[in-house]
Formats: sequence, C-alpha cells, structure tokens
Amino acid sequence: MPGLFVVLEGGDGAGKSTQLTRLAAWLREAGHEVVVTYEPGDTRLGATIRTLVLDQSSGDITPRAEALLYAADKAQHVYEVVRPALEAGKVVVCDRYVDSMIAYQAAGRSQDADEIRGLADWATGALVPDLTVVLDVPVERALGEKTDLDRMESAGADFHARVRSYFLDLASQAPARYLVLQGREDRDAIEAAIRARVETLLP
Ligand SMILES: Nc1ncnc2c1ncn2[C@@H]1O[C@H](COP(=O)(O)OP(=O)(O)OP(=O)(O)O)[C@@H](O)[C@H]1O
Ligand SMILES: [Mg+2]
Repeated sequence: MPGLFVVLEGGDGAGKSTQLTRLAAWLREAGHEVVVTYEPGDTRLGATIRTLVLDQSSGDITPRAEALLYAADKAQHVYEVVRPALEAGKVVVCDRYVDSMIAYQAAGRSQDADEIRGLADWATGALVPDLTVVLDVPVERALGEKTDLDRMESAGADFHARVRSYFLDLASQAPARYLVLQGREDRDAIEAAIRARVETLLP
C-alpha cells in the first residue's frame, strides 16, 4: 500500500499520546496527509467496545471474550480507518495496535500468544505496521501517580510486568520494524529519535 503505517506501543502512561501528537504535527508541517487514530475505540463500533473492555462495571470478563472484543475493534478499525487511509497514500499514526493485543490479551492474561496473534491477524487481514515505536517504562513509574484505574490498568503489577517484557520481546524479534525508546526520558529527545527513524521511511 502507498501510505505509511506507524504505531506507538507501550504500557499505560508511557507517553504514547504525547509523542503521537508531536509526530503528527511534524509530519503535517512537512506536508504529509496524516491520520491520527487509536485502538481500541476509534470507530463507532469501537467506541462501544472500548467502553465494554475498559469499564470496571463490565466485571469479570473471561480472557477469551476480552480477546474477541479487542479483535472486533481491530477488524472494524482497519476496515474503516487504517486501510482506506493507507490506500489513499496517507501517513497513519496509531496509538496501540496488534502488539498491544498480544501483550495484554496473551502475555498479560496468560493465554497462548500464537492463538491470540492468529486472531489478531485474522481480524486485521494481517496488516503489519511499517514501524512500531515501543515506549518502555518501568511499571511502577507509569501507573504510580494515577488513581482512577480502568479494567486494564488495575490488572496488577505482575500483569503489567508481563506486558512490558512482551513488547520488548516482540521488538527484539524484528528490529527492522521496531524502535524501542525509554519512555520517561526527555520528551524532545524521544521526539527527535522517532522523527529520525520515521524520516527514513517517508516517500
Ligand atoms: N517523556 C516524558 N517524561 C515524563 N513525563 C511524561 C513524558 N511523556 C509524557 N509524560 C507525562 O506522562 C503522562 C502520560 O503521558 P501520555 O498520556 O502521553 O501517555 P500514554 O502512553 O498515552 O498514556 P495512556 O496509556 O494512559 O493513554 C502525562 O501526564 C504526560 O504529560
Ligand atoms: Mg494515551
């Protein structure tokens, strides 16, 4: 596809949204058409799914149901937002994607990673990002200050430690498609490192 697909991954509070905003502004200034989006939730169907998976009132959702809900969000998001934008030659900058689903729904929930990846790939038609930026932060620093935690955020320190290390595993398996940065370093330095890498991928 003619566009460029960049994803920001990392734990809760790692600085994804901060860097996403900065990257998008820089790309737009350089004259690129940019679509800024996120998972779960950035479609009409997805917004409902997001409420279901994140709201504490959903209670005890079985990990299989949780994975299927995330998969449905991704299927709709790729169909409605990501693929059309890439086909039109735009730069898509997405806050979380398939790696989050594998890290949280497989590593976090102790489910089989190959099965969850299979489900995610089926949902997205195996659409792989050109670049995934992983912002790595120690779990206690990311969630330390936050109080009103959602269902995922309140899943416990062990859960988040498994999620964190799984992102790093994924990145180490395909370094050409990943950039791993320390999420709590200087914001400008992180921004510059992301730009430098994205620049090499732009048409
Ligand atoms: N490099 C940084 N160093 C210190 N603090 C940061 C840095 N980047 C962002 N922050 C702050 O950390 C908090 C979380 O940042 P941000 O919302 O960008 O993270 P996020 O990964 O999108 O979080 P969430 O998972 O909750 O969406 C914010 O208060 C933000 O201002
Ligand atoms: Mg965010």
